[in-house]
Amino acid sequence: MKDLCSIAIDGPAGAGKSTVARIVAEKLGFEYVDTGAMYRAYTLKVLNMNLDPENRDHVLSILEDTDIDFMENHIYLDGKIVDDEIRDNKVSKQVSYIASIKEVREKMVEIQQLIAKKRSVVMDGRDITTVVLPKANFKFFVTASVEERGRRRFLELQSKGIKDITLEEIIGDIARRDNIDSNREESPLTLTEDSVLVDTTSLTIEESVDRIISIVKEGRLDCSTQ
Ligand code: CDP
Repeated sequence: MKDLCSIAIDGPAGAGKSTVARIVAEKLGFEYVDTGAMYRAYTLKVLNMNLDPENRDHVLSILEDTDIDFMENHIYLDGKIVDDEIRDNKVSKQVSYIASIKEVREKMVEIQQLIAKKRSVVMDGRDITTVVLPKANFKFFVTASVEERGRRRFLELQSKGIKDITLEEIIGDIARRDNIDSNREESPLTLTEDSVLVDTTSLTIEESVDRIISIVKEGRLDCSTQ
């Protein structure tokens, strides 16, 4: 029997984690789990129900009746795929507050840990190396300068035809989100001692992927794949 293996990737907004993590997972035959998408889906539901995303009681009022899952590169909210809706800027602006609430995190972490008990995974987020998979076989911290991260997010939005936001606004939003994610009480984003730092400021996607894959290959693990 082959082992279940796990690769944990943390890092700040717009560092390219999800693109890199998805390709790494494909190359290794592991399942990719985008935990940020799960917090975004919860935020989308709060907004769709016209609840106040900055009111803890409002946010928690739907906790028990909300079903979120990430499977085969799709995010499901109450059984419906919401891949596109969760990328809306309205969601991006509110998600970090919602993700700072302990009870919301506990629910998401439980789902994430269950997925990792069934499949070999590449999982990315803010607390994967510290809380979700502290015993992961490999841990990476993927980052880039805030200007470069802003530039990438700006180009991504432009390519989707979203042109009503400036580069400066995006950099401001990212810096604000970094600040909340790194300084919150519940599972803040941290570079742990046992994580490999991958600074992608001047790396292409392929170079970032190769760096991670070569470290994983050196480990010579015999992992179960899909
Ligand atoms: O893609 P982007 O870097 O913009 O962020 P994301 O990975 O989609 O995550 C959105 C937000 O969810 C983050 O800014 C965090 O506030 C929160 N998050 C978290 O708290 N813990 C995770 N494991 C993943 C995301």
